[in-house]
Amino acid sequence: MKICVLPGDGIGPEITAEAVRVLKALDLKFEMEEALLGGCAVDAAGDPYPEATQKLALAADAVLLGAVGGPQWDSNPRELRPERGLLGIRKQLGLFANLRPAILYPELANASTLKPEVVAGLDILIVRELTGDIYFGQPRGIEMRDVDGKHQRFGFNTMHYTESEIRRIVRVAFDAATKRNKRVCSVDKMNVLECTQLWRDVATEVAEEYPDVELSHMLVDNAAMQLVKNPKQFDVMVTGNMFGDILSDEASMLTGSIGMLPSASLDENNKGLYEPSHGSAPDIAGKGVANPLATILSAAMMLRYTFNQEAAAQRIEGAVKKVLAQGLRTGDIYEPGTQKVGTKQMGDAVLAAL
Ligand code: IPM
Ligand code: MG
Repeated sequence: MKICVLPGDGIGPEITAEAVRVLKALDLKFEMEEALLGGCAVDAAGDPYPEATQKLALAADAVLLGAVGGPQWDSNPRELRPERGLLGIRKQLGLFANLRPAILYPELANASTLKPEVVAGLDILIVRELTGDIYFGQPRGIEMRDVDGKHQRFGFNTMHYTESEIRRIVRVAFDAATKRNKRVCSVDKMNVLECTQLWRDVATEVAEEYPDVELSHMLVDNAAMQLVKNPKQFDVMVTGNMFGDILSDEASMLTGSIGMLPSASLDENNKGLYEPSHGSAPDIAGKGVANPLATILSAAMMLRYTFNQEAAAQRIEGAVKKVLAQGLRTGDIYEPGTQKVGTKQMGDAVLAAL
C-alpha cells in the first residue's frame, strides 16, 4: 500500500503531517514518500508538477495532498502557477471522479450562516467530473483578433464532453446513491448549452440501469438557489467540472466549516487523490492553528475507497467525532464554551481517541 504524500503550500505541510501521523498509528503497512507539488515545486524545481513527483504519484496507489497556491505565485505565467500542478496531476492520473461530501456535524450546528433548521442533519454528496469540460477543452487562449470591426484582444475556452465521459461520472453518482438515499440530481444548463443537453440525455439513459435510484434534473442557476433555500432536498448531485467547482464551494459553506470537509478524486480503478476541500490558507500558514480534520478525514476516505479498509476508515471518523464531542476546536470552528486548540493538539487528540 503505497501512498505519495504531497504537503504542498501554505498550511498544507502542517495539516498533512497530522494526517500522516494518524495513518501511521493504524496497524496497516503503508509505504509513504513525500514529494513537491504546487508553489513549493515551482520554487524548488521550476515546475508545479515536477517529473520526480510524477514518478512517485504514478507508482503510488493513493496520493495524500495538503493544498496548493499562495499570493506569491498569483502573477506567475500560467504554466508556473501552483493550480497548474493540481490540474496536471488530476489529468495525468485520470482522476475523473471528484467526491465532495458536505456534512453538518451536530456538534458544529451553529457554524453555518444559515438557519439551524435549514441545515440540521445535512448530508449531501457532490460528484463532480474532474478531467473534462471547459477546464481542459481546446482551443483556448487569449489572442489578437479582428472582431466587430476592431483589432482587439479575444479570450476563448471550449466546453465539451463525450458521452462516455458523461456516462462514467453519472454511474459513479448512481453507485454512490445506491449506498445512500437513492436519489441523484443531475445539474446542467441544457436551456442554453448543447454540451449539457447531451449531459442530460446521457444521465437519463444511465438512470435506466438503476431502477432503484430516482433521477431528477436541475438547471445550474436553480441548483445554486435551491442549495441555500432547501439543501436537504438533495442526496447526491452530479455535474460537470465547472459547475461542480462552483456548487461544491457553495455546498461546503452550508456546513459553515470548510475546515471539516474532505474530498476524494478517483480514477477508473479507485486509485485516488485525497485532499481537504479547503485551500492553502496563506494567512495562517506556519502558525500552527490550521484545522487538520479535513485532511485527516481525507485519509479516512483513502482507506475506504482505495484500500478497502472500511473499518479503519470508520475508526478515524469515529475519533474525529469524539474530539468534537470533547469540545476541542481549532480557530475556524471555535465558539465560546469550547476549547481552542492548535493543529498539533488537534492531531494529538485524534490519535488519543483512535
Ligand atoms: C478546486 C479548486 C481548483 C479547481 C483550482 C485550485 C484549480 O478550486 O479543487 O475546487 O478549480 O478545480
Ligand atoms: Mg474550487
